[in-house]
Amino acid sequence: MIAIGCDHGGYELKLAVEEYLTNRKQEFSDCGCNGETVDYPDIAEKVCKKITSGECEKGILICGTGIGMSMCANKAAGIRAAVCGDTFSAKFTRRHNDANVLCLGGRVTGKGLALEIVREFLDNEFEGGRHTARLEKMKNMEVK
Ligand code: RB5
Repeated sequence: MIAIGCDHGGYELKLAVEEYLTNRKQEFSDCGCNGETVDYPDIAEKVCKKITSGECEKGILICGTGIGMSMCANKAAGIRAAVCGDTFSAKFTRRHNDANVLCLGGRVTGKGLALEIVREFLDNEFEGGRHTARLEKMKNMEVK
C-alpha cells in the first residue's frame, strides 16, 4: 500500500500519479488534498504516519517544488524522503538510500517524466551490502 498526498501545488500531478498507480494495480491511500489550499506540513505528516504506523510501506508527496514536503517528511523518525526530478535519482535513492518517500514538484516536473520517476521508485529495491552500514549511520542521526 502506498500513501499519497499533495498540497494545492501538486494536485494536478497527484491525479496523474493516482491514475498511473491504478493502471498498475498498485493500491494507494489518498491523504488529500482535493485541490483546496492547504499547508503542506499537514499532508506530509498524514502520509508519514501511514508509513511509520506500518499501514503503508512507501509514500509519495507532491507540492509545488517537492522541497517543502521533503523537508517536513525527513523530520519524522523512520522516514527517508527524496525529492527526485530525474529517473536516475529515483532508482538510486531506492537502491542505495532505501528511500521510503518520493517527493515530486508539481510545478517543476512534467507529467510524463514524473510517472517514469514513480516507476523507478516503485520498481527498485534496496541493495543492502555496503549501503547497510551507511543507512545505519543515517538512522543513528535521528536520535542525536
Ligand atoms: C505552495 O504555494 C508552495 O509553497 C508549496 O507547494 C511547495 O512548493 C513548498 O515547498
